[in-house]
Amino acid sequence: MNIHSLLVSRFKQALVEMQVSDASAPVTRSARPEFGDYQFNGAMALAKTLKQKPRDIAQQIVDHVKLDDVAEKLEIAGPGFINIHLNDVWLANQCELILHDPRMGVAAQSQQNVVVDYSSPNLAKEMHVGHLRTTIIGDAVVKVLEFLGHHVIRQNHMGDWGTQFGMLLAHLADKLQEEVAETALSDLEDFYREAKVRFDEEEGFADRAREYVVKLQSGDEQCMTLWKQFIDISITHSEEVYEKLNVSLTRDDIMGESAYNEDLANVVSELKEKGLAVEDQGAQVVFLPELADKEGNPAVYIVQKSGGGYLYATTDLAAMRYRSGKLNADRTLILTDARQALHFKQTEIVGRKAGFMKPEQSYEHCPFGMMLGSDGRPFKTRTGGTVKLVELLDEAVERASKLIAERNNELDENELNDVARKVGIGAVKYADLSKNRTTDYIFNWDTMLSFEGNTAPYLQYAYTRVKSIFRKAGIPSTALNGEIKLEQTQEHGLAVLLMQFEEVVNVVAKEATPHVLCTYLYDLASAFMSFYEACPILKDSVDDATRASRLALSALVASTLQQGLTLLGIDTLEKM
Ligand code: ARG
Repeated sequence: MNIHSLLVSRFKQALVEMQVSDASAPVTRSARPEFGDYQFNGAMALAKTLKQKPRDIAQQIVDHVKLDDVAEKLEIAGPGFINIHLNDVWLANQCELILHDPRMGVAAQSQQNVVVDYSSPNLAKEMHVGHLRTTIIGDAVVKVLEFLGHHVIRQNHMGDWGTQFGMLLAHLADKLQEEVAETALSDLEDFYREAKVRFDEEEGFADRAREYVVKLQSGDEQCMTLWKQFIDISITHSEEVYEKLNVSLTRDDIMGESAYNEDLANVVSELKEKGLAVEDQGAQVVFLPELADKEGNPAVYIVQKSGGGYLYATTDLAAMRYRSGKLNADRTLILTDARQALHFKQTEIVGRKAGFMKPEQSYEHCPFGMMLGSDGRPFKTRTGGTVKLVELLDEAVERASKLIAERNNELDENELNDVARKVGIGAVKYADLSKNRTTDYIFNWDTMLSFEGNTAPYLQYAYTRVKSIFRKAGIPSTALNGEIKLEQTQEHGLAVLLMQFEEVVNVVAKEATPHVLCTYLYDLASAFMSFYEACPILKDSVDDATRASRLALSALVASTLQQGLTLLGIDTLEKM
């Protein structure tokens, strides 16, 4: 059940009856319980157009809107808000309907093809913290879209091509005189650094590196073999990270930059034919007057360098065309940090002008801010180096293990390892997912591993609390036949929240904002804690019907927490 859309449609109907059908019907969740559960706030705008008093308009809307089944009362407040208090019997019924539904009553949507371009690390180096956000935000968005029934096509647009590979392959060729590729490339950071030093300092090496670039581009066999070895080992490094992170990307999802190589010349010649690309100082460029600077100079979007080489941009145009034409993407979501925002804006303008995608297909760059250290600067190691993702994740598990061991000494070693892994990885992921993605955030071990506040351990713990109630009660939640009655305000509040799961997942799918789901789960867990305090369940003084009803509400909380955390890619535990 989606209460929000139900309310919107009822208000729309009322507006039609009032013969103002083009007025909008904005319904929001109320900020405070005294304002009801939802609020209609379209009366003020309508009053302006009709030149009447807002409160009078609000009254007319209240007279017309049919909500007897759903709402206990409607109340006009302030300048003309309509506060909607939902009816307890109706709410209880809605909860009963979804008690044993693993989807929590969430309806599948009309299916779209959604391409999600995420993670997409550069294979020349090891995955570092810069790839954490795209990988986990992307994976959460993918899971939510799939949950809603969409056909998701993951695209790991790995950086596996480009001039930097010349230097790396030249270095690799030398190394292979003495060792095998696996050992030579066991540490990609070191390998890259060595190659770079030789490139900058060793006589003749830079020339050889450039030769390798040419050989690679012409498809020279020996060179391609080296390149494949390099790419393969680097992908294996990424897979190790994906596995630790519990991220759903596989090799089949890789569609690296190299995959578009053959198409780049076509992209440029088509842009030329269409009169979009023109020669400028030997390069092929597209001028974009819609993104002109203050002096009126159009932005310049380069698609081919003067030496003939292609760019990141050219590849993204080819990818756009492939996703539109071959993958039939209704939507394309691309997750990268905010510094690439201009690139994607320009790419969209150029691509649309060139007809590389259909007008009704959307192209959505989903930018995110940076992960910062406690000093407010980009997150680095103590010595100023980039932090390897693998090491960061291992540290998370280690820290969680210490914390859990202090709190609980009943776990055997296997259990402790399992809990530590789920809590540690969950904490890192959740800390990231729970922040509004567009802003930078400060990475802090202590807050993310805390059992208080909006953290993974808090939610995982709340889930185990509910589970332990069922263990104590001695009945599995599946055995509940579920009559629910809502008498206390805490029960009402909890039921309203439970019914909002669908609304929340829909927002996440539309806006690619997992933090909305995190906030919701945190609110739900907190509401459960206050419910549990105010409404005893297992005490002898509680009558059977009340106990059964409260157990049913608790079961719903558990399934919602579990479903929600699963969508975020975070494991739940039975005890911790
Ligand atoms: N490899 C790029 C990077 O690490 C991200 C690629 C994102 N996707 C794209 N279609 N450009 O910054």
